[in-house]
Amino acid sequence: MYIPKPLDKKITIPYLNQLKQQGEKFACLTAYDFCFAQVLEQAGVEVVLVGDSLGMVIQGHDTTLPVTVGDIEYHAAAVNRGLEHAMLIVDMPFGSLNSQQQALDNASQLIKRSGAQVVKLEGGITQIRTVEILSKYSIPVCAHLGLQPQSVHKLGGYRVQGREHDSAIEMKDTALQLQEAGADLLLLECVPQQLATEITELLQIPVIGIGAGVNCDGQILVLQDILGISGKAPSFSKNYMQQQNSIQDAISAYVGEVKNQNFPDASHCFS
Ligand code: KIV
Repeated sequence: MYIPKPLDKKITIPYLNQLKQQGEKFACLTAYDFCFAQVLEQAGVEVVLVGDSLGMVIQGHDTTLPVTVGDIEYHAAAVNRGLEHAMLIVDMPFGSLNSQQQALDNASQLIKRSGAQVVKLEGGITQIRTVEILSKYSIPVCAHLGLQPQSVHKLGGYRVQGREHDSAIEMKDTALQLQEAGADLLLLECVPQQLATEITELLQIPVIGIGAGVNCDGQILVLQDILGISGKAPSFSKNYMQQQNSIQDAISAYVGEVKNQNFPDASHCFS
């Protein structure tokens, strides 16, 4: 069994860069409240995301689209009170990035009022200029490529992205442009393992994967999925409660498997 190592230093962007250079994997999870934030911190989860997945797992919506900046701020402030060392990332919800000024105002508000260190945004190529501006105003950004759940109505469902040659080339190019624009981190969701590996190797910034294979620099999953209580966990996720007797042990087991590169295995990846 993996013995959790509670974090003993503040997790920063330079520290994640250092882990990438050393080839050491880091563990990320979503959380939406104070108590779970404390449990994650104890288990040594380096990065905690208050994702707009809260629309589904906390609020019971079918999509992430109804989530507001106020919802993210409320949950992130609670999570922040439970963290000491872990990095806190917050999602920019649907409709919060419709202009560069709006994005800057919303991101500044979230950082200022919740205590988060980084904002995550979907949008890929559409948001290059926004990433540039946020970066210029000292707001760290995690860009998000691959499956972007805020585009569910355009996509017509939740599907693996980048399987075709042209879309894979386009994703690599967009990833480079986002890095060039100042993104500090990149999240890849539902991307074939080979493509995710190539993007991780291509970029200097750390890449966090979800359904993107074991070679990303970090892994992230939705907390309720790994605890087996979301009711509809995606195939790339894993229920860690099946072999553990407590929530704390389940989260520690996840951290251990990420660090030892036992998660994700072939059954949790796409080709
Ligand atoms: O909203 C969220 O929780 C996310 C993760 C699925 C990465 O974006």
